[in-house]
Order: sequence, then C-alpha cells, then structure tokens
Amino acid sequence: MTEAAAATEKMPAHVAVIMDGNGRWAEQRGLPKYRGHEAGMDAMIEIVRHASDIGVRHLTVYAFSTENWKRAQEEVSGIFDLLIIYVNRELEELHRNNVKVDILGDRSPFSKKVNAALDKTIAKTQGNTGLRFHIALNYGSRAEILRAARACVDAGEGPETDEDFGGRLYTAGVPDPDLLVRPGGEKRLSNFLLWQLAYTELYFSDVLWPDYTPAEFDKAISEFGARKRRFGGRV
Ligand code: FPP
Repeated sequence: MTEAAAATEKMPAHVAVIMDGNGRWAEQRGLPKYRGHEAGMDAMIEIVRHASDIGVRHLTVYAFSTENWKRAQEEVSGIFDLLIIYVNRELEELHRNNVKVDILGDRSPFSKKVNAALDKTIAKTQGNTGLRFHIALNYGSRAEILRAARACVDAGEGPETDEDFGGRLYTAGVPDPDLLVRPGGEKRLSNFLLWQLAYTELYFSDVLWPDYTPAEFDKAISEFGARKRRFGGRV
C-alpha cells in the first residue's frame, strides 16, 4: 500500500498534534510552568507509544514554535532541557518500537548539546520502519513557506505543482496530515503546517495537554472515522 493510500476510513495515516495547555495546567496547580511542560512530555510519551501501537504511520507534534522564543528565558531553556531528558530517557524504547524520529524546523539556533542529542536520535532511528515521529521544533509555517520559496528562487525554479513546492518544505516526502488534534481549548492553527493542513480534518478538545490520554486520542480517531472527506469533490 502506498503512503497516500494508507489512511483508511477509520485510521488516519498521519495525525498532527498541537500540544497546548501545559502552562494553564501548571497554573491551576500553583506550579511553575516547567512542571506543566514536564507533565506535557509524559503525555507525549504515552501518545507516541499509543500511536505506534494502533498503527498510525506518522505523528507530528508541535513542541516549540518560532514564536515561543518570546517566552521567559527560563521557560525556553526548561523546554530544551526536557527535550534532552526526553531523548536520553526514551531513545532505547523508541528504537525498540521501530519508531523513526525526525525534526521539522530550523535547528541552527540550538545549542551544541541539543543538536548533538537530536543528531544521535535521528541517526539511531533512521533505519526504523514503524511509526514516523516528527517533532516540530523552532517551527513556524510561514517561515517554512518563505524558506521553500527562497529555495525555489535560488534554484531558478518556478514550482508548477503542489508536489514541486511541497518537496521544498520540512515535510518533504511526508503525506499531509489526515487529522489535526488540538487539545487545550483554543481553536486556531497557530502557524502550524498551514500548507499541509489544506484538507485535514480538524479536531479540538478542551482537555489540557498534560491530561491528554490515549483514550482522548482514540475519541479523535473515532470521530475522524465518522467524517466524510471530499477533498473539494462531491463524493
Ligand atoms: C504549549 O503549552 C506547549 C509548548 C509551548 C511546549 C510543548 C512542550 C512539551 C509538551 C514538552 C515536551 C516536548 C519535548 C519534545 C520534549 P502552553 O505552555 O502554551 O500552554 P498554555 O496555553 O496553557 O500557556
């Protein structure tokens, strides 16, 4: 089966997730923001495991946006510390579960330590053939589209098709998401995968990300199964 044909009526081949609500979760408990992100990391670990178990082919999570640099330095460094903890703690299990990890976004501003941890993860899992886990880090969709446009200009190319242009995005070769899930109560896209979400089914939930469970994920999958996708046609 081709990747494009992998989404069935019931099971999306590619699920994208905006992990929102960590800050409010911490605030409700009188805890520092870091603890919300830490609990968010635990929720993410469960969802990756679950997505892999139920046969989702691609999972993309929005872990750090180009706009997130505006947050307090302490919060930003806390998120990158967690990223290193995540990779060190979970790499063996990800590998054992045949998960292939990659990063969407501009890694150039990251510290040597962060980039080394990411390189190690990508290298170790690159031959894996199970779930593809895409972590969006220092990712912004408009920046991604501008970068792709610039790459076309630099190559002297006027892209003719969606595929020509899509091949210049961070998601080159990855099928568009079938389902976008946004927990945390907000109903917006926040500069996430604007090109790729053109025909994606959107699912919003009020549950804050640290409280998000595999059962919540299954609710989204089950609603996806009930949607009629027409891709602009009449079928
Ligand atoms: C949005 O919640 C979440 C983030 C900006 C960071 C997401 C990070 C994690 C889940 C940590 C683990 C990630 C990795 C890759 C190790 P928010 O803080 O904007 O929530 P709020 O809207 O309630 O303030």
